[in-house]
Amino acid sequence: MAEYINVAKVTEIPVGSAKVVEVNGKKIALFHVADQFYALDDRCSHAEASLAKGYVEDGSISCPLHGARFCLETGKNLCLPAVTPVSSYEVKVQGEDIYLGGCP
Ligand code: FES
Repeated sequence: MAEYINVAKVTEIPVGSAKVVEVNGKKIALFHVADQFYALDDRCSHAEASLAKGYVEDGSISCPLHGARFCLETGKNLCLPAVTPVSSYEVKVQGEDIYLGGCP
């Protein structure tokens, strides 16, 4: 069974915003979109920009530096200049607490 780590409170990430959390020395971007939370590596696979500072649209996040897009659900790279995906993590919400599973 996957280990889940408590990383944030729901109230810390209003709808439409993102927060960077650090788990085992790795920065992970948490996104709150509509009634759903998503978690991806906070480092773009192209040139390491923070994805938490990007733009969410149609289930994807656009990198703020050169515009590569990644699927919020899976981390799959959807367009150039990124040619590799970023890691995605399972998100579980229990009450006010947000947990991540499958962390590094
Ligand atoms: S750093 Fe993200 S697209 Fe270049």
